[in-house]
Amino acid sequence: MISAAVEPHTEHFNPDTSAPVGSDIVATSRGYAADARQNRHKRKVLFVTSEIADLVKTGGLGDVSAALPRAMSHLHDVRVLIPGYPQVMESDNPIHVVGELGGHAALPACQIGRMDLPDGLVIYVLICPELYQREGTPYGANNGRDWPDNHIRFARLGLAAAEIAAGEGMVHWTPDLVHAHDWPAGLAPAYMHWRGLSTPTLFTIHNLAYQGVVSRACCPELAIPEHALQQEGMEFYGKLSFLKAGLAYSSHITTVSATYAREITTPAFGCGLDGFLDSKAQQGLLSGIPNGIDESWNSATDSHLEHRFGLNDWEGKAANASQVRELFGLEPSTGPLFAVVSRLVYQKGLDLTLGVAEFIVEQGGQLAIIGRGEPEEEQAMRELALRFPGRIGVRIGFNETDARRMFAGSDFLLMPSRYEPCGLSQMYAQRFGSLPVARNTGGLADTIESGVTGFLFDESTVESYREALQRAFYVFEKKPLLNAMRCLAMTQPFNWCQAVEPYARLYEELVVRATSQRG
Ligand code: ADP
Ligand code: GLC
Repeated sequence: MISAAVEPHTEHFNPDTSAPVGSDIVATSRGYAADARQNRHKRKVLFVTSEIADLVKTGGLGDVSAALPRAMSHLHDVRVLIPGYPQVMESDNPIHVVGELGGHAALPACQIGRMDLPDGLVIYVLICPELYQREGTPYGANNGRDWPDNHIRFARLGLAAAEIAAGEGMVHWTPDLVHAHDWPAGLAPAYMHWRGLSTPTLFTIHNLAYQGVVSRACCPELAIPEHALQQEGMEFYGKLSFLKAGLAYSSHITTVSATYAREITTPAFGCGLDGFLDSKAQQGLLSGIPNGIDESWNSATDSHLEHRFGLNDWEGKAANASQVRELFGLEPSTGPLFAVVSRLVYQKGLDLTLGVAEFIVEQGGQLAIIGRGEPEEEQAMRELALRFPGRIGVRIGFNETDARRMFAGSDFLLMPSRYEPCGLSQMYAQRFGSLPVARNTGGLADTIESGVTGFLFDESTVESYREALQRAFYVFEKKPLLNAMRCLAMTQPFNWCQAVEPYARLYEELVVRATSQRG
C-alpha cells in the first residue's frame, strides 16, 4: 500500500524544538517528532538486508533482521532497508514515499518508501518494480531458480544504502553507521568506500557459502571501478564477489557464532576466503557474535500452537505430537518423533538424513520433514516419504505455524549440517522441549551441550550420525532422563540480550573511531 503523495518533509526533524519541519502533515509528524525526541542520543544505524521475517523470510537471516533492530531499539535508532518485493509492497502497513534516487549505470532509478510497523520499527523500502515486483522468493522464482539479474537487483540495494548514507535522495535521515548483511548487501560498504564516505560500516556474514559471484564484465553496468578488481578489493579468482566486497570494504566484520568465526579462517570452511579472513582476524577485524531468539518462542503462550504447554507438562507436548502425526499422515505411535525443519540445500546435510532414515524407522521412530529448496532435494524427500508410508511424512513448503508445531511436537530435531554459521532451529527446538541431534560445528557446537540438551556428532558421515541417534533412542527409553534433558533444554538462556551488548559496543567503537579519524 503506497501513499500517492510524495512526502519529502515527513522525516525532516528539527531536533532543537522537536518540531517537524513539514508541519502540514500534522497527524504523522507528531509521531515522528516523538521519535526525534526519543532518538536524540541514539546512534542512527541503517540495517541493510534482503529479508525480514515480518514481511518475507527464507531462513534465519529474516529472523535476525526482525529481531536484532528491535532488541537494540532502546540503545540505537536502527532502521531497516529492504527491497520492495510483492510481500513487502502488499503488506497491510502503509508506505509513504520519502525519497527519490536517480539511475546509475545499469542500476535503475528508484524511490524510497517508509513503512512504520505497528511496534514502531521503521523500514525503508526500495521501490523499483522492474527489479523487485516478481512472484517468488527474494532470490528467485518459485521453481527454485535464481533471478538472472540478481547482481543488478542487489547492487541497486547496496547503492541505495550508500546514497542514503551520503544524504542523497531527500530521505532526511542520514545514518551514523551502515550495518550490511550477507552478499545481497555486500556492495553497500563498497559503494560507500568508492564515494569517499567516512560513515563506518559493519558487515555480518550469515553464510559464507553464498557469495554473489559474477563475471568481471559486469563492472560497467554495476558502476564498479577497475581498481576494485584486485586481491585486496572484490576480486575473487578473476571474478567479482559481492560478499568479498562486503568483507574488503567494511570497517569491521562479524559472523554469527564464535566457532564459525574461527572455522571460516580455515580451508575446510573458508569457501576460498580463509586466507583473506584470517588476515582480517589477525588485525582484530573479525569477531563472532551469536544470534539469539526472540520472546515469541514460548511454548506456554505461542499463538501458533493449539496445545500450549509449559515445563514438565509432557501431556501438553504429547498433544502437539499427535497433531504433527496427523498433519504428516503418520500412524499413531509411542515411539520417538523426529523432525526436520530446514531449507533443503546441501549445507543442511539432508543426504545424511536419507542415509539414516531406514535406521530411524527400524528402531521404531517416525520422521516429519518440512522444507523447501533445491528441486533435487525436494524430490528426494518426496521419494523418501513414499518408501515409508505412515512412518515418514514430508511437506514441501514454508509454513511458520507448521514449523512451530513441529518444534513443539517432536522429541528430537535433526540438524546434520555440514556447516552452520549459527542456526536458530536448534535453539527454537530446545525451547520447545525437542532435543537436537546435530553436527558438532559452528553455532550448533556453541548452543547444544551434548548429552545435556541434545546430541552432537563429529563427522559428516552416516556412521557418526547413526551413533548419535543411538544415544537419542537410548535416552528416549529412560523417561526421567529424557524429561530432565528436556527441562534443561527448555530453560537455556537463549535471547537477544547477549548479542545486543557486543553489537552496541561495536557500533559505538566504529562511530567514535570514524569521528576521530575525520576530525
Ligand atoms: P538457515 O538460516 O540456514 O536456514 P536457521 O536455523 O538459522 O537456518 O534458520 C532457519 C529458519 O527458517 C528458522 O526460523 C526455521 O524455523 C525456518 N524454516 C526453515 N525451513 C522452514 C519451513 N519449511 N517452514 C517454516 N520455517 C522454516
Ligand atoms: C544463515 C545461516 C544460519 C544462521 C542464519 C542467521 O542462514 O545458515 O546458520 O543462523 O543465517 O544468522
